[in-house]
Amino acid sequence: MATVEAARQLLSGGFGRLGCFDPFLSNVNGVISVKSGVNNARKRSSVRAQVHKSSRVPHDRRRVGPFQGTSGVFHGKSYGNRLDSMSYNCQRVESLNGGTAEDQRRALLVDESDKVTSIPPNGTPKPDVNEFKVDPPLDQGNGGFGSNGKPAAAGINLDSSQKIKSSSIEDEAWTLLKNSMVYYCNNPIGTIAANDPSATSTLNYDQVFIRDFIPSGIAFLLKGEYDIVRNFILHTLQLQSWEKTMDCYSPGQGLMPASFKVRTVPLEGDDYATEDVLDPDFGEAAIGRVAPVDSGLWWIILLRAYGKCSGDLSVQERVDVQTGIKMILKLCLADGFDMFPTLLVTDGSCMIDRRMGIHGHPLEIQALFYSALLGAREMLAPEDASADLMQALKNRLVALSFHIREYYWIDMRKLNEIYRYKTEEYSYDAVNKFNIYPDQIPSWLVDFMPSKGGYLIGNLQPAHMDFRFFSLGNLWSIASSLATLDQSHAILDLIEAKWEELVADMPFKICYPALEGREWQIITGSDPKNTPWSYHNGGSWPTLLWQLTVACIKLNRPEIASKAIELAEKRLSLDKWPEYYDTKRARFIGKQAQLYQTWSVAGYLVAKLLLADPSAAKNLVTEEDSELVNAFSCMISSNPRRKRGWKKQILV
Ligand code: GLC
Repeated sequence: MATVEAARQLLSGGFGRLGCFDPFLSNVNGVISVKSGVNNARKRSSVRAQVHKSSRVPHDRRRVGPFQGTSGVFHGKSYGNRLDSMSYNCQRVESLNGGTAEDQRRALLVDESDKVTSIPPNGTPKPDVNEFKVDPPLDQGNGGFGSNGKPAAAGINLDSSQKIKSSSIEDEAWTLLKNSMVYYCNNPIGTIAANDPSATSTLNYDQVFIRDFIPSGIAFLLKGEYDIVRNFILHTLQLQSWEKTMDCYSPGQGLMPASFKVRTVPLEGDDYATEDVLDPDFGEAAIGRVAPVDSGLWWIILLRAYGKCSGDLSVQERVDVQTGIKMILKLCLADGFDMFPTLLVTDGSCMIDRRMGIHGHPLEIQALFYSALLGAREMLAPEDASADLMQALKNRLVALSFHIREYYWIDMRKLNEIYRYKTEEYSYDAVNKFNIYPDQIPSWLVDFMPSKGGYLIGNLQPAHMDFRFFSLGNLWSIASSLATLDQSHAILDLIEAKWEELVADMPFKICYPALEGREWQIITGSDPKNTPWSYHNGGSWPTLLWQLTVACIKLNRPEIASKAIELAEKRLSLDKWPEYYDTKRARFIGKQAQLYQTWSVAGYLVAKLLLADPSAAKNLVTEEDSELVNAFSCMISSNPRRKRGWKKQILV
């Protein structure tokens, strides 16, 4: 049986979805079943009970890491002497490296007989974070901080006092990162979003966010600490198949959560034991109920990076992981009404997770989508059952890169072209295909666009171009080679030319410019957190340092990243590692910014590690692909009518 099908069937059989429908309704896809009138809270607890049935285990049992030992390659570690309590359920999970998708999903998710014992409430301490080995950073003064012991490189030209300062900031950052680690069954599985001991309200910043964990995970990978990333990948995979509904509506099975929390709860019927419970949020509790489209894409990107950095390919080869990749792809590649190869999403479906006028085809999602497609193409095992999916993936890659490179790109030449566009063209060979009215060119752009440089616009819809500069989308388009090499260099040229606007006192503005006045009212819904030059509306986010560094190193221009890091180093630690900064020049700590925000810490660390050992960046980027280049040039040279047959011509 095809693995995806097997998983689907298992899901339909194994997970009765609880919802407020007819008690006897149950459809073939397992979408609806069970009782009416079950509220959300019950629904969640019943699901978690399925997953983490637990019992006490004699306290002298020795503990073993959950995924340890599945292959000879993995550099897992034993936590044997750490704690008395142990998890049977976790042990079962670790032993999975073969079998069918059905076997694996079953064992991962629904074995009623297995029991977990977690930390007894009678005082066994939480794991000591220091037990998770993260070496203190090497002294910069002794030649750098390369994870492989290589000397510092990449154009950092610090004097010795700066070096000492920078190294103590790194020490602090590592300590903060370690302290933000979250444990499940006593094994590290992620990092909490913010860890400010003085915070009175944490909202959901006490959760592990998928997107926030990416820089943490990469920092650990670059440091040779693979367990936490492996655990994160496999446990979030479990959550992918979780029952998820909002007001009786269920999104697609491949969806990954935005975040999850590990709760330690008393074990039913046992006063002396507790169980650890993973409690995911797929957007059903998130502010604005936003869909985390980026989570699954980031998950694929991290999975690839894990394999590249650790050399352990056994994780990506697991049947359940292969199924997980395919489920994400199926969700993203599903046919819809759309005319464009870009992924159509609702507002707030990525790092900007609230209303900011980025619904439709925002660049950030397209860059992550492209990167995830490339990663999936690399990691999916060739098998008959995946042939159609693989073909659809390849077709989409070509169409997507063509579309973005052609239609999202602007520079002075293209702006001039748009300025003189004819409109209302009905024909196959219209120049102004999307019927853009030249009056849409905003006045700020006339000054912003340098004569040398360019960028990919934020969004493209019929008769609408969002000309705002979105940093993550542009930087990740460089990292993934969604942008051509020339375009990539031009983006960095623009960043250099517009340093005062995009960086000023703290790297890096999430987008430029901010929405103001009436436009702010209409587009954000008068969101008081997204006021001009704050938060997602032109605020500055230190976490973006790591993507900037990856992009700069890929293009062999690390000095741009070094300059940004030097700036950040002046303030990040003093300011307590804020989530974001406010004002046009990033002079204030964000009004509602969390302090000790983990991805600010991790973003900084990744940037430092990469600058010290630029060769490690190759594990995070994808190079231009000759198959795509050929396909791309075919498309450009074919006329619009002939283009209809291009897939057949070049991709079979
Ligand atoms: C904010 C950010 C989001 C991030 C979350 C946790 O909601 O917009 O991108 O994942 O905080 O840090």
